[in-house]
Amino acid sequence: MHAVGIVAAAGSGLRLGADVPKALVPLAGRPLVRWAVDTLRAGGVTEVVVAVPAADRAAFAAVLPDDVVLVDGGATRTASVRAALSAASAAADVVLVHDAARPLTPPEVVGRVLAALEAGARAVVPVLPVVDTTVAVGPDGMITGALPREQIRRVQTPQGFSRATLVQAYGRLPTHAELTDDAAVVHSAGVKVGTVAGDERAAKVTVAHDLVLAELQARA
Ligand code: CTP
Ligand code: MG
Repeated sequence: MHAVGIVAAAGSGLRLGADVPKALVPLAGRPLVRWAVDTLRAGGVTEVVVAVPAADRAAFAAVLPDDVVLVDGGATRTASVRAALSAASAAADVVLVHDAARPLTPPEVVGRVLAALEAGARAVVPVLPVVDTTVAVGPDGMITGALPREQIRRVQTPQGFSRATLVQAYGRLPTHAELTDDAAVVHSAGVKVGTVAGDERAAKVTVAHDLVLAELQARA
């Protein structure tokens, strides 16, 4: 199975507030984007395309292996993945889309996603259970009801798709549509999305506190 990996790394990282794009921020001496690329390769992906901020292409090229393809990202994650997808080899059977912001994702998660695709899934995402009580609140901040926690999962990346499924779903998506992940893109095209076990270590680095935790984890 020929698997291509897409890394969404074109965000600026406003909430992290570093002076470089988030994907270039070092974690234990390695930029987040490099961690993400290395994890995909260690997990069995053979070709990698990275969506980067257009203005920072040289800085990304300097920290990534030569055979990684770089493309200019867009204004939204959806636009960035769309750009990377059109640069991915048409020979690929499956595509894994990963966030640069999830640097410590163990390669085993990549392996589980690939195995599900190998077994015939068209779309599959790593998920984790919710441990806290979950509620809905109204605009006034008052609780309007409880949500059934056992039906809820937290969704991570890498998310895996048969290439044809993902290309078709992006093809149907309006140009300026903005969805938070790729499972939502294929779901909007009527595709059933399966799940495999995620991993707490695949947590997203969003704010400064997440980077502190990731540093501790990287050194453990
Ligand atoms: N991303 C992207 N293109 C964009 C926006 C986001 O490729 N136009 C990527 C980010 O680089 C990140 C992933 O999507 O790896 C998840 O997004 P998020 O955590 O929101 O990162 P940022 O958008 O960079 O952060 P912020 O929202 O705080 O600015
Ligand atoms: Mg963002």
